[in-house]
Amino acid sequence: MSKVYKFPDGFLWGSATSAHQVEGGLLNDWTEWEKENAENLTKEAKNKNTKWQQEKFPEMFDPKNYISGKTADHYRLYEKDFDILKDLGQKVFRLSIEWSRIEPEEGKFDQKEIEHYKKVILALKKRKIEPFVTLWHWSFPLWVSKIGGFENKEIIKYFTRYTEKMAEALPEVKFWITLNEPEVYASHSYLRGNWTPQKKSYLSYRKVIRNLVSAHKEAYTVLKKRIPSSKVCVAKHNVYFEAYKNKVVNKILKYFADSWWNDWFLKKVKGYQDILSLNNYHHNRINYGFNKNANKKVSDMAWELYPESLALAAWELKKYNLPIYITEHGLADADDSRREKFIKFSLACLHRAIERGADVRGYLYWSLLDNFEWDKGFWPRFGLVEVDFKTQKRTVRPSAFEYAEICKNNTLKI
Ligand code: BGC
Repeated sequence: MSKVYKFPDGFLWGSATSAHQVEGGLLNDWTEWEKENAENLTKEAKNKNTKWQQEKFPEMFDPKNYISGKTADHYRLYEKDFDILKDLGQKVFRLSIEWSRIEPEEGKFDQKEIEHYKKVILALKKRKIEPFVTLWHWSFPLWVSKIGGFENKEIIKYFTRYTEKMAEALPEVKFWITLNEPEVYASHSYLRGNWTPQKKSYLSYRKVIRNLVSAHKEAYTVLKKRIPSSKVCVAKHNVYFEAYKNKVVNKILKYFADSWWNDWFLKKVKGYQDILSLNNYHHNRINYGFNKNANKKVSDMAWELYPESLALAAWELKKYNLPIYITEHGLADADDSRREKFIKFSLACLHRAIERGADVRGYLYWSLLDNFEWDKGFWPRFGLVEVDFKTQKRTVRPSAFEYAEICKNNTLKI
């Protein structure tokens, strides 16, 4: 017998993207870094991926895999992509504005590019799709990376000025995400040193994360002044940390992991968010400092598929007393063999959390389209819609039609 889960009225269903990953034709710090690092990334693919991944995705041994180039050409094809969105019954779409298009040189704003994003927003509104706009999803204009990006305090004033420009240009946008996953960026780029600018310095990391906090607060203030009814937040990457077997040591470790990864940034920006934006991909079962995930099922990126994670991560945000939107959740699944079940089981858990009192108002799957996955390149396929990167042909995956039924009926049936 099938089970029926009805979601609250007005629940927003949709999907998410980011400019660098889908637009194509960019010139920013990442495009430069990709050119310099494609060969290295190709060589490292052997050590970074398991044997089955290497066999399934031989593209990872081709340096071209690591150059974003045209990617999904969404900059040109956005109307077509939004038609697909509409057909799939989605009511909300997350996109990011590419700062390097808007302000390619310091203080010189490109009116044509501002117009482009106005048209993009209009194209969504015309289809009755509500935009969620991210102002910074990890990429910089070259002049910003030259001055040190978020390591340099000066960026706060530049980011605020750019935010003001966009708020002025897009007054009809209600949902604003200032920064995408600040701590993911800061830790990859300044602690682990595997993303541009590839530093490994705790001091730099601290500087970056503190400047990100200030940049968010300033941007929040500007947005609220310009568009008082807007809902502003940071997209927060939270992991569900589980204390294995509830052992005391594991509980203590969970406490520290939560405080550092999940709560630190949110506490720093307290009073400067109207809603919470949760991105969740990971569950980490802690056992004496080691990860003890069962990994019964994994995605193509070898990430554990643990459907309970999303609801548990959302539940843990209850203490902030703000409405929650899931702004990213998904998996790389090139043959679409696990996506439908993973979405449905995750949503069933989420529904239970909502019934118990978690104030979750929307769910945006990552991602609408196959896209360019940062230092991994093109082989991880997150899309509800498959993209042939040579011809730009879009093919809606079977799981997307299943997800569309949920979006259209505001109801999940399993
Ligand atoms: C990022 C996306 C990325 C996704 C999958 C998120 O942390 O915001 O840009 O594609 O994870 O790795």
